[in-house]
Amino acid sequence: MSIARRQRLIVALDLPTAAQARALVEKLGEAACFYKVGLELFSAGGYFELIEWLAKRGNRVFADLKLYDIPETVRRATANLASSGATFLTVHGQRSVMQAAVREKGALKILAVTVLTSFDASDLAEMRSSATVDELVMARARGAVQCGCDGVIASGMESPKLKAEFGSKLLVVTPGIRPVEDRPSDDQKRAVDAAQAFKGGSDYIVVGRPIRNAPDPRAAALALQQTIAGIFPA
Ligand code: C5P
Repeated sequence: MSIARRQRLIVALDLPTAAQARALVEKLGEAACFYKVGLELFSAGGYFELIEWLAKRGNRVFADLKLYDIPETVRRATANLASSGATFLTVHGQRSVMQAAVREKGALKILAVTVLTSFDASDLAEMRSSATVDELVMARARGAVQCGCDGVIASGMESPKLKAEFGSKLLVVTPGIRPVEDRPSDDQKRAVDAAQAFKGGSDYIVVGRPIRNAPDPRAAALALQQTIAGIFPA
């Protein structure tokens, strides 16, 4: 399935209220058509109404709720989200969690979080994991394919290996996008820039602060769309 170029940029609506999220969407106009609504808005009220509003305006919606619970709870939550109007839903890359979500996915695409892009080797050591970040990402991606997930969330550092092993069997969605000169000044530890992510094989990028905090968010989104247009032929 080919991906429309403009959809490759997913804007993370990490804002305190649904009203502020709508204002950003209106400001971006045609510069974006795929939005991620995550935990901040989920805990703010008006989450499902916002998804509906976005979808009605012709946008795609990524519900980034990173489900992680017992299988029965994940299954039932996924069933509810399948009728929300969202296109993508994230769950953690644990087999029992992924299997439960896939059972109820309907038209949703289930994306497995491999290793958060804010994690590095020290975070894995804290989890008593002896695997490297790369090994854990690849192991979870294998699990995701075996469980019937549609894609994974992984940093641009891992997308070349993921594409080499899984090709079009697995969508690679990459957050932690930062311009080269900005790295690593915040919580994203495995950051790459947009061009690096796509050239490495990422199918989509997720961008929050570099757009939200830009002096001109629309111009920042348009610049990313231009990068995308330069990489993917029309
Ligand atoms: O502001 P920034 O561009 O870092 O936003 C990235 C977004 O992607 C945030 O909403 C964050 O929750 C999300 N995300 C991530 N790493 C993952 C999964 C989701 O940064 N592994």
